[in-house]
Amino acid sequence: MCGIVGYIGQKDTQEVLIEGLKKLEYRGYDSAGIAVFTNQGLQISKAKGRIANLESKLEETPLVGSAGIGHTRWATHGKPSDVNSHPHTDNSHKFSVVHNGIVENYLELKDELIAEGRHFVSETDTEVISHLVAREYQGDIVKAVQKAISHMRGAFALGVLTEYEPEKLVAVRQASPLIIGIGEGENFIGSDIPAILQYTRNVYILNDGEMAVLTKDSVELMTIEGNFISREMIHVDWDAVTAEKGGFEHFMLKEIHEQPKAYRDTMRGRIDESGKKVVLPELKLTKEQIKGISKIQIIACGTAYHAGLVGRQAIESLVRIPVETDVASEYRYRSPIVTPDTLVIVVSQSGETADTLAALREAQSHGAHVLAITNVVGSSIARDADDVIATLAGPEIAVASTKAYTSQLIAFYLLSLYLAEVRGTQTQDEVARIIAAMQALPEQLENMLAKPDAIKAYAEQISKHEHLFFIGRGLDYAVVQEGSLKLKEISYIHSEAYAAGELKHGTLALIEEGIPVIALATQDAVLEKTVSNIKEVSARGADIMAITHEEHVVSLLKSVNQAFAIPKTLPLLTPALSVVPLQLLSYYASLARGNDVDKPRNLAKSVTVE
Ligand code: M6R
Repeated sequence: MCGIVGYIGQKDTQEVLIEGLKKLEYRGYDSAGIAVFTNQGLQISKAKGRIANLESKLEETPLVGSAGIGHTRWATHGKPSDVNSHPHTDNSHKFSVVHNGIVENYLELKDELIAEGRHFVSETDTEVISHLVAREYQGDIVKAVQKAISHMRGAFALGVLTEYEPEKLVAVRQASPLIIGIGEGENFIGSDIPAILQYTRNVYILNDGEMAVLTKDSVELMTIEGNFISREMIHVDWDAVTAEKGGFEHFMLKEIHEQPKAYRDTMRGRIDESGKKVVLPELKLTKEQIKGISKIQIIACGTAYHAGLVGRQAIESLVRIPVETDVASEYRYRSPIVTPDTLVIVVSQSGETADTLAALREAQSHGAHVLAITNVVGSSIARDADDVIATLAGPEIAVASTKAYTSQLIAFYLLSLYLAEVRGTQTQDEVARIIAAMQALPEQLENMLAKPDAIKAYAEQISKHEHLFFIGRGLDYAVVQEGSLKLKEISYIHSEAYAAGELKHGTLALIEEGIPVIALATQDAVLEKTVSNIKEVSARGADIMAITHEEHVVSLLKSVNQAFAIPKTLPLLTPALSVVPLQLLSYYASLARGNDVDKPRNLAKSVTVE
């Protein structure tokens, strides 16, 4: 995780680095630091905690210069502290390194370097890199970095500076993301595009095993062995404003409100003009291959996994192919049965999640065709997968995923309809009916988002509790799992999501007077059974809030304390609406508890460690 930024050019380097780090703070926010070439040489400033702490330090002692590197940290080796913060340096203080990832053999290397007389000050693996670069330096920083990394194992993205060659900034990517921003008379590096977006939209995306040497007027790309390479420059369409809060108090709230647009953007160009057919021209998977699929495995982490749970039900009901869902960190270790006629779908907002990437590679090693549903087109997962369906949600900054999840649902619905058409499992009329309902979703969602007050009031009520339960059946069960994760993640209220029919097999013992229970009751086919389960918790004194359709509010109010109505769509599509009150509930509960909504404790947006 961690965020890296680097700059070389004529602007105020400190400001460019700080602004870039603010855009990357979602990747980690334990501490931050920068190194800048000043007229007194390479100077470092770093501080434990948020970037604001670093800014206060820099107000007292600004670093003025024309090149620098910066880092925002998510601690892996060594607790968050000033000394463990990046940039790290060597004993001569002539070299400086920022690093994202893990150097797996750092202890071995550290012992070796100590035996050679080098002195360490931090507990990090990164410090090893600065000592290694210093040791290998013989007048050429590029060669020194290449030699240093030849000793290292693991995942890393690096930014390296040396006082001996102040006109150069060296960047390396080895299994951790890194992009290069191209300006005029200035160049940039960043862990992610938003870090540099306010300065340039032209980027190169480095592949694993590649490096870049930047001066203010040039960028040379090469492999880590030193072979020069050329790469097509990508022009990024999103503007910097899309990555800003745009008048909302938090990114999360902004992103919740961007969902109608994300639905429209993800559907755009994928439904033909007749409205009766899904077209996915980007798919390489042939119709013959689709007809031959015997099984589908959906693999992802966290929220993306929850989208996969809905995806499973969409595919199974529309296409009648058996689907397994796996949490990516478990997939490899369960010895999965994968054959060449297995379609593996990996889902990832960032496209950089290490567990998901490892699962993708595992599936490919068994000959499976891997289709990625991702929000970041140039990401590692997008590039390694055999096929990609891009969710067009735009940059998601808040750690708690919202619009990425719902766009993933839209992508699953589109894919299911496409597979159904190829395999002839749905009539054209049925496909047209589902498409029409999908096209109505953005407006239905807009109407719902215009009335947040009831959910806000309920959120304030539950914010006083430490434990609560979510229950639901079928697709409602899939959605409450996402609702529960969201609530835990940002409000720190403990919650459990249960299949409503499963409560009586043990968990009912935890229901006591006044405990909040949120019941999602939107699936008409199982409504009566859900109501029976609601009665079971009601009889034990639970304080129940139901989320349902308008037509069921009156009857449900006989068993629950309050009810919230969502617009009606087809049962299969309901998750694209029913999750939204749960997102808002988490948001307002977090706000009521005074938490940092966009940057919850202990977490990071992009999880690039296994
Ligand atoms: O970028 P990804 O979609 O691969 O990330 C997967 C999870 O880390 C992510 O969804 C996480 O669970 C979210 N913070 C939840 O809001």
